Amino acid sequence: MSVDPARVPTMKLSSGATIPAIGLGTFGSDHAAAKEVAEAVQGALEAGYRHFDCASVYGNEDEIGRVLKGFPREQLWVTSKLWNDKHASQDVLPSCLRSIADLNVDYLDAYLVHWPFPNHHDRGVDINSRSPHARPYIHDEYMATWREMERLVDRGLVRHIGTSNMTIPKMELLLRDARVAPSVNEMELHPHFQQPELFSYLVGKGIQPIGFSPVGSPARPERDRSPDDTVDIEDPVIVQIAKNHGVHPAVVCVKWAVQHGHVAIPFSTKASHYRANLEGVVSDPLTGDEMRAIARTDRGNRLIKGHVFLWREGQPWEDLWDLDGVIKS
Ligand SMILES: NC(=O)c1ccc[n+]([C@@H]2O[C@H](COP(=O)([O-])OP(=O)(O)OC[C@H]3O[C@@H](n4cnc5c(N)ncnc54)[C@H](OP(=O)(O)O)[C@@H]3O)[C@@H](O)[C@H]2O)c1
Repeated sequence: MSVDPARVPTMKLSSGATIPAIGLGTFGSDHAAAKEVAEAVQGALEAGYRHFDCASVYGNEDEIGRVLKGFPREQLWVTSKLWNDKHASQDVLPSCLRSIADLNVDYLDAYLVHWPFPNHHDRGVDINSRSPHARPYIHDEYMATWREMERLVDRGLVRHIGTSNMTIPKMELLLRDARVAPSVNEMELHPHFQQPELFSYLVGKGIQPIGFSPVGSPARPERDRSPDDTVDIEDPVIVQIAKNHGVHPAVVCVKWAVQHGHVAIPFSTKASHYRANLEGVVSDPLTGDEMRAIARTDRGNRLIKGHVFLWREGQPWEDLWDLDGVIKS
């Protein structure tokens, strides 16, 4: 059984365009090879997904592109992202063109700056790895990258540009200086990490939040695990609500996301899982009481802390996230 894509909720962007409120994440990380992710994209299209969250650094855009080839373009929402080692002005256009060619589309619906730091790390490195070239957020440099992102819109290569892993202080500077404002911001969002302040700020500025790791990323690599991390899908409140609805706790997290007002991009290569997530957002909504109960489960538990993007030895990961409202240098 497939879901009619017309039944899938959408969210309206400031441009007037609509984005499907659920997309398939495509970051196979250390555990799902490119071929497996591309097969999931094929299966997800058949199931009724029309939104795919891609990125050059995921290393699978060409395999995904082979699946997307020939599919009616106007029915799809395809996001890609500029990786950290391509922030230099001369690298932005070629990186975007590469993703467009690999994905077999002639434009992207959204192109995001993946992280606000030009800090690169090798694949699979451990949590203590630091690049000698790593730098803090430097606004002038970010704006030079953003100017090239704006030109991608002018050239008709991308319909929307956006940010990812941003904070309010960085977003304030960007909104002050941008000619083309970001339409979306991709950020970690799940019941145990609801980021209410940033979420409200974005909504107030007309920027649609897209929530990554909506299930709490249970298969994230070792380098993204800390002893204090909590597990959304084992939270007794989520587990009880899952029982109420006869679904897996992961599906409750996805339902919550969409009802809360953000776009969810859960990853799975298992057909039963990605189908259940899609079915979850078109049927049997959570009640008001259930939504309020999930709101109270927030533990401020950031899972994707970004250690590998730090620029000094011995620095706390919190320096990436401007917790006291100040951008760290
Ligand atoms: N912008 C960024 O910096 C950024 C960062 C991280 C992620 N992302 C994007 O967000 C996407 C999702 O994030 P994520 O992969 O970290 O975390 P996630 O979607 O929260 O978690 C994915 C895991 O949840 C399991 N799962 C999903 N649906 C399930 C279901 N119905 N029942 C049981 N288990 C289920 C999957 O296991 P199975 O495979 O066993 O189903 C998979 O291992 C990524 O793929 C990527 O596109 C973006």
